[in-house]
Amino acid sequence: MDYFSQSIKQAIRTVPDWPKPGVTFRDITTVLQNKTAFRKLIDAFVHRYHDQHIDAIAAVDARGFIIGSALAYELNASLVLIRKKGKLPFDTLVEDYELEYGTASVELHKDALKPGDKVVLVDDLIATGGTMLAASRLIRRIGAEIVEVAAMIDLPDLGGSDKLRAEGLTVYTVCS
Ligand code: PRP
Ligand code: ADE
Repeated sequence: MDYFSQSIKQAIRTVPDWPKPGVTFRDITTVLQNKTAFRKLIDAFVHRYHDQHIDAIAAVDARGFIIGSALAYELNASLVLIRKKGKLPFDTLVEDYELEYGTASVELHKDALKPGDKVVLVDDLIATGGTMLAASRLIRRIGAEIVEVAAMIDLPDLGGSDKLRAEGLTVYTVCS
């Protein structure tokens, strides 16, 4: 990991046994509160995509919105919201995914993207990959092209990024 990624990683707070015993929670509020770290984080994503044509940043509810909106602004791209079920008011596509206990669903407005649009899918963290996989399916159902799946943090031991690669997606994460 380079110096740049290391300094962002240092700004992440790890909280043991939250929200339940055995989970080490990666708290990104400490990155957002640190103006140097937050700027470095957004710059890392901007640097990766600034020389490509990107039509839209698709950001995942809720922490993905924070990174996605800053990135869309900097890249002069559209911002498309992938929301938890029941939050979007117009016609939607829905994808269900597995949680540790039970299932959840994400939604995308049908008119949020067009076939052929070049999209970067952004969230804060990849754990099991279930959220990003469901989000990527929404985008692919419209026929848009996922340039890359991007996140601040990968938890590789949970296998999510490998699962995404197995679906033919390219994955970029700033730190793990
Ligand atoms: C967290 C995180 C990712 C997802 C990663 O979101 O922000 O979206 O979990 O986990 P996965 O790779 O196992 O799917 P959460 O659902 O907790 O929602 P929040 O952003 O609203 O806190
Ligand atoms: N989402 C899923 N697993 C997480 C973790 N360990 N820390 C923060 N967000 C998460």
